Amino acid sequence: MIVEPKVKGFICTTAHPTGCEKNVERQIEYVRNKGRIKGAKKVLVIGASTGYGLASRITCAFGMNASTIGISFEKEASGKRTATPGYYNNKAFDKAAADAGLYTKTINGDAFSKSLKDEVIDIIKNDLGKVDMVIYSLAAPRRTTADGTTYTSTLKTVGEAFTQKNWNLRDNTVSDATIPVASEDEILSTVKVMGGEDWKEWIAALVNADVIEKDAVTLAYSYIGPKLTYPIYHEGTIGQAKAHVSKTAEEITGEYSDKGIKAFVSVNKALVTQASAAIPVVPLYLSVLYKVMKEKDLHEGCIEQMDRLYREKVYTDAGVLIEKDGMIHVDDLEMREDVQEEVMSIWDKIDSDNLLTLADTEGYWMDFYNMFGFKIEGVNYAEDVEV
Ligand code: NAI
Repeated sequence: MIVEPKVKGFICTTAHPTGCEKNVERQIEYVRNKGRIKGAKKVLVIGASTGYGLASRITCAFGMNASTIGISFEKEASGKRTATPGYYNNKAFDKAAADAGLYTKTINGDAFSKSLKDEVIDIIKNDLGKVDMVIYSLAAPRRTTADGTTYTSTLKTVGEAFTQKNWNLRDNTVSDATIPVASEDEILSTVKVMGGEDWKEWIAALVNADVIEKDAVTLAYSYIGPKLTYPIYHEGTIGQAKAHVSKTAEEITGEYSDKGIKAFVSVNKALVTQASAAIPVVPLYLSVLYKVMKEKDLHEGCIEQMDRLYREKVYTDAGVLIEKDGMIHVDDLEMREDVQEEVMSIWDKIDSDNLLTLADTEGYWMDFYNMFGFKIEGVNYAEDVEV
């Protein structure tokens, strides 16, 4: 069939298989051109199909020559519905890895569940013996825990409501949006979903089954960002969950010190992904940030970020490079003083009239469409494709 983008607000309900494949190939090409990374050999990526998780998996496979197991929660095509982009990304990754002679296994299912953990442990036992790196890159709207309770994550503030400029994606206007205060229950639920509990359960399950190497490394991803977005991000419900992730990293490293297992949090740059596009205020910040960073030739996408993370911060001769706060930072360029000063000066002026000139809305939309396999160079969108 002919697949066209169907955009509704911050989501696109279709995905293009060839476009997604090209997207994966472009990322592989990027890492290959950068050359070898002396890193992990057997990697488990939880949340491997899109965004930072996919870029991490590509970096491990094509930079480190690592065997990879990827877990994600994606939908196949059915009837007239295309599959989700992550589904096509996984197919493209598996094909490219197999062509390159690399071991790859992709599992589709609920990473929060015990049954999936058991399934993955069996695969590691049978195929790889043990893993030496675990990347935790889940971004999920809900989680059902072992006792059957389902928790939903929310993007709200903690303490008081927050009003800030917001880009209305539907009509390209800028107006104030007010983000409401979360209840105690909503904070707790967000921490349950996006905090570190499940990450720790994964590591415990891998240790108990003896399928994780001595001195293995595990990473989870976080975001801090500028003061401007603190109420909605860093100090909001999601920020509480991220604080929990940081605490969990310390707990994992402490608990498994006899095995030398070390857990790290990497603070990454804000980028357009399915997870970030859903956060109010953030798309406007992103498009202003893109404008400034592109002008300064500092812009990076997921693959540039993840390649730099593993190549220059994790697998270095001096070991893992952490900053004063105990975390790895690849948000260094985003947070550079001159970048933030310029972003804030634009932010103060931006309104509906000058939005299109002061912000890189085009760049935002390009990343957005690319994420679903659209507007990719070299793809003939008029052609029938098998979905
Ligand atoms: P994403 O939405 O692109 O990827 C999420 C991944 O999780 C996908 O592979 C999806 O299939 C998988 N997933 C979701 N629910 C699942 C489940 N129940 N079972 C198995 N897999 C499931 O998100 P993105 O943006 O790459 O986020 C990854 C991590 O990076 C998150 O922790 C996020 O907070 C963090 N991060 C994101 C930033 C951004 O600007 N996008 C910035 C800094 C950190």
